[in-house]
Amino acid sequence: MNVIFGLLCLLLAAVKVAEISGHVEFTNVKCESLDKNFSDFEYCYIKAINRSYKYVSLKVNLFKVPVTKIKVNYSVMKRFNGYIPFLYNVTIDACKYFENTNRNPLAQYISGLFLPYSNMAHKCPFNHSLIVEKLPIDHVSNHLTNVLKFPTGDYALYTSWMAYNINRANVNVFIKLS
Ligand SMILES: *[C@@H]1O[C@H](CO)[C@@H](O)[C@H](O)[C@H]1NC(C)=O
Ligand SMILES: *[C@@H]1O[C@H](CO)[C@@H](O)[C@H](O)[C@H]1NC(C)=O
Ligand SMILES: *[C@@H]1O[C@H](CO)[C@@H](O)[C@H](O)[C@H]1NC(C)=O
Ligand SMILES: *[C@@H]1O[C@H](CO)[C@@H](O)[C@H](O)[C@H]1NC(C)=O
Ligand SMILES: *[C@@H]1O[C@H](CO)[C@@H](O)[C@H](O)[C@H]1NC(C)=O
Repeated sequence: MNVIFGLLCLLLAAVKVAEISGHVEFTNVKCESLDKNFSDFEYCYIKAINRSYKYVSLKVNLFKVPVTKIKVNYSVMKRFNGYIPFLYNVTIDACKYFENTNRNPLAQYISGLFLPYSNMAHKCPFNHSLIVEKLPIDHVSNHLTNVLKFPTGDYALYTSWMAYNINRANVNVFIKLS
């Protein structure tokens, strides 16, 4: 909890110093299965319908269900010479989180980025494929810029998905703020 509190303070500090970013663009999404016996991606892509409607969809199939222990850790990276850690390096115990979502505001904020467009918003166990369906860039953009004003630049959200404390998959989303 102290870690979370410290990060919230960091967030507030970031709000103070940051510039206003006007435009948010998904530039890429990369999904990587580290153990194809455990889980694998059926699809993972960005699609542009037109200039204003762009979305991310992904589906990961789980082969050892039910899964009763899931942790996610993520880092916000910023590109300088390569991507370096910028903000957070937080681990969330998904099963504990879904027991009481009000207990962890930072996890709530981060999961709000994609949870409304997924089938993952429920308590453990998970015994089905995990899907993020047509997550609109607008949703992510509003969610990010309503709360935070990041400096312009290239960012990546690196996420590692662990089951039973073993890293099973990485999903990295690349975003440009201009
Ligand atoms: C996946 O399963 C195959 C066949 O059972 C086995 O040969 C392989 O070592 C397994 N891979 C991992 C990463 O456990
Ligand atoms: C973009 O596509 C969406 C979904 O088909 C549609 O609702 C929207 O009106 C389109 N926007 C423009 C500017 O064409
Ligand atoms: C998540 O934690 C694991 C184990 O500590 C680490 O190997 C991985 O790089 C971390 N992922 C991110 C996105 O920070
Ligand atoms: C996040 O922290 C873990 C554990 O300390 C470390 O292994 C990992 O490399 C870190 N991730 C990043 C992106 O710095
Ligand atoms: C998954 O879990 C739910 C709730 O526990 C149950 O109703 C459903 O039958 C299970 N599905 C599979 C494929 O095991």
